[in-house]
Amino acid sequence: MEMNGPRHIPVLVEEVITLLGCAPHRVYVDGTLGAGGHAIEILKRTEPDGRVIGIEWDEEAIIEARKVLAPFGERARIFRENFANLPGLFREEGIGPVDGILLDLGLSSIQIERQERGFSFRGEGPLDMRMDQRTGETAADLVNSLPLEELEQVLWKYGEERWARRIAGAIGEERGRSQIETTEALRKLVYRTIPKRFQSRTIDPATRTFQAFRIRVNHELENLEQILEGGWPLLKRGGRMCVISFHSLEDRIVKQAFRRLERGGSGGPGQQERVQILTPKPIRPSEEEARENPRSRSAKLRCAERV
Ligand SMILES: C[S@@+](CC[C@H](N)C(=O)[O-])C[C@H]1O[C@@H](n2cnc3c(N)ncnc32)[C@H](O)[C@@H]1O
Repeated sequence: MEMNGPRHIPVLVEEVITLLGCAPHRVYVDGTLGAGGHAIEILKRTEPDGRVIGIEWDEEAIIEARKVLAPFGERARIFRENFANLPGLFREEGIGPVDGILLDLGLSSIQIERQERGFSFRGEGPLDMRMDQRTGETAADLVNSLPLEELEQVLWKYGEERWARRIAGAIGEERGRSQIETTEALRKLVYRTIPKRFQSRTIDPATRTFQAFRIRVNHELENLEQILEGGWPLLKRGGRMCVISFHSLEDRIVKQAFRRLERGGSGGPGQQERVQILTPKPIRPSEEEARENPRSRSAKLRCAERV
């Protein structure tokens, strides 16, 4: 991948390292390897023999991660996989319980910046939005084929878009004339549809629509729920799961899953899992970090320990 554009700056690194208790001999899963920012730091803080199992489903990110993690040799293993499938991967690869799992959700700056991936409403690109481009429907597939009620639901549920019905209706009309294939076409449609006086000057009016389709295309909330439910047996007792989320839908899911498990929920069929929450309130970036890395502003970090 070309790396001339802005690199991805990892968020809340010190906080993650501390909560994970990084130390020699320890083994961690980075479930959202991205450009390897957190993984590098974990590897440095677990020298000389700590290990990282890196999971990533985006091929371009994997290529970059392989490059930056190469100096760590066999201490870093990388798999192209959905983190929701971690239990299956552990079984297949014979990987034993680990000391910690990190999930840094959402997109990397590199994905956002590459217009041909279709994540960004700035510039023009195909309406794709798949992080894993091997399979699945693109955003264009959904925009051009979902029944209007379902479009409205996607926009409402995943974008918390108050103009969901209107935007769904406008999509219906537009696609009756010609298919909506580009990020620009979708952005312009949203601009035309939300009444001007309700358009924020600070947040782009297309933000919620793009977030909604991205979450739906990648089944982001389902994947998160799956790992929060089934990931605990992959941790040693005392092992920790850290999750960084970037919007309220994800944070709510993490908070509720941790609370349910702290009260004594199930970690899957036949297993009683209990966890202890180590972050009663989510950890937010310092003012300094928020200033230096604006993307970090919405980040919330929660951590729980398997007991
Ligand atoms: C915010 S970035 C992570 C950045 C990384 N922590 C770093 O410092 O470079 C999120 C990454 O997770 C990946 N990702 C998101 N959901 C995933 C899933 N279900 N399985 C595997 N990778 C996923 C995305 O493709 C993206 O590269």
